[in-house]
Amino acid sequence: MNDKPLSILVVGLGLIGGSFALSIKNSAFACKVSGFDLSSESVAEALEQGIIDQGVDSLESGVTQADVVMLSVPMLAMEKVLEQLSGFDLTGKVVTDVGSCKVSLVRAAERIFGRVPTNLLPGHPIAGSEKSGVAAAKEGLFKGHKVIITPLPDTEPEVISLVRKLWQACGAEVNAMDVQRHDEVLALTSHLPHLLAFSLVDTLAGNPENQDIFRYAAGGFRDFTRIAGSDPVMWHDVAVGNKDAILTALDQFSAGVENLRQAIIQQDSETMLGTFERARAARNHFASMLERRAYMTKELENGSQTYVARPGGSITGELRVPGDKSISHRSIMLGALAEGVTEVEGFLEGEDALATLQAFRDMGVNIEGPHEGKVTIHGVGMKGLKQPVGPLYLGNAGTAMRLMAGLMSAQDFDVTLTGDHSLSGRPMGRVVNPLRDMGASIETTEGGRPPLVIKGGQKLKGIDYDMPMASAQVQSCLLLAGMYAEGETATVAPGIVRDHTNRMLAGFGYPVAVEGSRVAIQGGGALTATAIDVPSDISSAAFFMVAASIAEGSDLTLKHVGINPTRTGVIDILKLMGADITLSNLQTVGGEPVADIRIKYAPLKGINIPEELVPLAIDEFPVLFVAAACAEGETLLTGAEELRVKESDRIQSMADGMAALGIDAQAKPDGMLIKGGKPFGAGTVDSHGDHRIAMAFAVASLRSEGEIRILDCANVATSFPNFVKLATRAGLNLVVSGN
Ligand code: S3P
Repeated sequence: MNDKPLSILVVGLGLIGGSFALSIKNSAFACKVSGFDLSSESVAEALEQGIIDQGVDSLESGVTQADVVMLSVPMLAMEKVLEQLSGFDLTGKVVTDVGSCKVSLVRAAERIFGRVPTNLLPGHPIAGSEKSGVAAAKEGLFKGHKVIITPLPDTEPEVISLVRKLWQACGAEVNAMDVQRHDEVLALTSHLPHLLAFSLVDTLAGNPENQDIFRYAAGGFRDFTRIAGSDPVMWHDVAVGNKDAILTALDQFSAGVENLRQAIIQQDSETMLGTFERARAARNHFASMLERRAYMTKELENGSQTYVARPGGSITGELRVPGDKSISHRSIMLGALAEGVTEVEGFLEGEDALATLQAFRDMGVNIEGPHEGKVTIHGVGMKGLKQPVGPLYLGNAGTAMRLMAGLMSAQDFDVTLTGDHSLSGRPMGRVVNPLRDMGASIETTEGGRPPLVIKGGQKLKGIDYDMPMASAQVQSCLLLAGMYAEGETATVAPGIVRDHTNRMLAGFGYPVAVEGSRVAIQGGGALTATAIDVPSDISSAAFFMVAASIAEGSDLTLKHVGINPTRTGVIDILKLMGADITLSNLQTVGGEPVADIRIKYAPLKGINIPEELVPLAIDEFPVLFVAAACAEGETLLTGAEELRVKESDRIQSMADGMAALGIDAQAKPDGMLIKGGKPFGAGTVDSHGDHRIAMAFAVASLRSEGEIRILDCANVATSFPNFVKLATRAGLNLVVSGN
């Protein structure tokens, strides 16, 4: 099979069959695509449009020549085609399909062949449109979409692997699922909405006033009913083929509608608002999942974003940057588990913190907001979380996943934590290993990467853990699990780590014992709701601290910034480089110190960054590298290998970007050597979807000789939703261009 092109026969040249034929034919996969359809016109059209290489006039002759047979006929016709196939020699061939129901296909195959042939793999691409017929075939229809394959216990591994490769060559992501589960899930997510759309349009069309109804129907009607334009035969067959699961889905839906009906009769605003609020949040969440991105849909609607940063400018005025990300995550987690109502102010409305917020909503916690940074969390108590209906999607948020791994390990339900592409590549062994020592049951993919599949109902026991790295996420994860564990859970960190979890636990009335670098918690306590004022994030402020330091004529004040001593490495490092930074208005809000920070332009000099400051400035290095490039002389960073496993490999991303702009920056395994003092040149850099890389290069433009284009910037919204607006207001010349 490997030396000569694979011969693929597509049976049924409709929208899906035609799109598959076209996509695979034009892919990198070496293959020859034949097509068979009962309608000879469809075959002729497919040939004419270049959708297939060759048409065949009988199923038998097509199958004889084929290595792969892709069945793409309506569900009920599938059975007839299988019957015909059973009369041919299928040895050594792969048979697969694209039908929307898998149980009925498997049953039909069992009846016809005696058992499901080991070379038959049921499949289902989750892509399509309301259009039908070969004329609607579209190359790229499956790009970025999911294809579900439903292997049976006997399906040959080579068959699974080949079908996977075919779909991947069409640009799809292939997931495996149990046959029954596929039908239950699809009944809810696809079959139910199609049947509702058909039913709604039919009901309205049967109304004597239908002329007026359709004449005045607006966008809502159009959006809701688009899929009522789909192929009736196909949907008839689906309704027949997936009867049981569809009836269950319809019953669930009817119960929901009845609930709403009663709420309207009784003018029960709480139920109505609760339903709408939950639905809106869930809809945004799904939209983000589908885009494989997180939450700030407005920023993400246009897909990928490029920043165009024009040279020069100075930074002046007063700014308040958004709320602290670390504290925002923790406020939701502890607020959700507390007894009573927690009011949060200054909450970061960035995607990462919103991912945590949504995850707790998915576990039944009633959370109002955020509205202008205000969030009200109706705590459910330590044992009040409910099992979410599906995996918890955490977008780009490493902190959410690592901290929640601890909390979720202690619940009595199973849960899966997933994330976007970047998060799916980040190491989770650092939390999973000690959690397993505590008795947690967690599965990961190879190399300890997400998704994390966590089994509930485990009894956790406290451990004494010597952390191999100075990580607040690891420490916080274990403290959160420790609240549920028997006895004491203690961690010792090899360096200073941010201590927001300890401070906030204390604020919620849960004592934490801190002795030097040992932090310990006793299991079995409870949290009491409190008020939280989230200070501005020093990690976001850092971009403007560097901006004002490097741009001549700058004088900027950043208001109400968190200056927790475990986070102020950026101030210390910049001061060592000669920056002019003064703090005023120092106060403590909700257990966290805050201050206004004034930064004036000052010539910087290169330094050896003291290693003990690394954990205190771990998120600020991308922009500190920019400061180093503007400083006279050499700056050396060591002891920061952790930067290689952040949202991107930050050492490499920055070294590559700086090299593209003509800066002498040498990446080291654990840091970077930068020879500073020259301006940045014009050029294009790739942020690799890493928010902090994107913002760091935007700052670099203040000292560049030409325009800097920064690719893949949409993820800036994970930590700094209004960055472009604030940066522009402060004096950067920054615009967003489409793709
Ligand atoms: C964080 C801890 C740090 C930091 C991250 C947020 C937290 O990570 O880089 O952005 O909120 O606990 P590590 O714990 O891995 O150092």
